[in-house]
Amino acid sequence: MWISTTLIAILLHANVANGNSCPVEPILEKLTSLDSLLVGIEERLARMESSSQCSRVATCVAPPVVANMRSDKRYEVEYPGTTTYKCDKGYISNGEPGVIKCQKNGEWSRLFLVCTGVSCGVPPEVYGMKHDVTEPVSFPGTVTYSCEPGFHENENNLLSPSGQGISRCLENATWTHVEKECIVDECGDPPKFPGMVLLGSYHRNVRFTENLYYQCDGGFPSSGEYGVLTCQEGGIFSDMNLICTN
Ligand SMILES: *[C@@H]1O[C@H](CO)[C@@H](O)[C@H](O)[C@H]1NC(C)=O
Repeated sequence: MWISTTLIAILLHANVANGNSCPVEPILEKLTSLDSLLVGIEERLARMESSSQCSRVATCVAPPVVANMRSDKRYEVEYPGTTTYKCDKGYISNGEPGVIKCQKNGEWSRLFLVCTGVSCGVPPEVYGMKHDVTEPVSFPGTVTYSCEPGFHENENNLLSPSGQGISRCLENATWTHVEKECIVDECGDPPKFPGMVLLGSYHRNVRFTENLYYQCDGGFPSSGEYGVLTCQEGGIFSDMNLICTN
């Protein structure tokens, strides 16, 4: 009775000291004497120590850093612990579980979760601006706009002193406003030509692509022949192609 109680106490102690749940081998030998019992205990302890899976608690290194997601643990984890990954804001899951397990061999099990940025779609059209992106863009992508031909940067735009024509794809799948403004090139007031009259109605400041129509005063050289002036890129009128002779 004394012997078996002591034996159990020793084995229990050995097991606890190991800090794991290695199974205690059952006592099968016939307890012939105290000496043989002690030898048996020593052998048992030695076997437990040398057994790779039982000698130490398997420990997994801190959960690996994976792009676009975060794990709920930052430090090493002991077998059979787990850690759970969740997608960062602005990223969506592929629907696979984000749990990995610290395995007996001290390696993490495979992670099946994949997180990808939400799509903001193709960048929107902005008046007077252009970009060269034709494919949908995902968070945290950006697109750079520049002024379309016939437009120029509004240097008086207080919203954008830096003049960066950038729009960002946000976490909530929307585009930021472009911090830049492009305004149409202007050619100024319609020019006057001797012997010609300006036809139709017009406004003072002629803009890019707008046309002005002139005719010779008194219909010379022949009525129905027009001179056309176009406001071009950069705010320059085209050359007058009509010649009036008296
Ligand atoms: C998206 O997020 C931005 C920045 O947090 C916010 O200003 C905007 O109102 C949001 N848009 C929508 C549709 O939720």
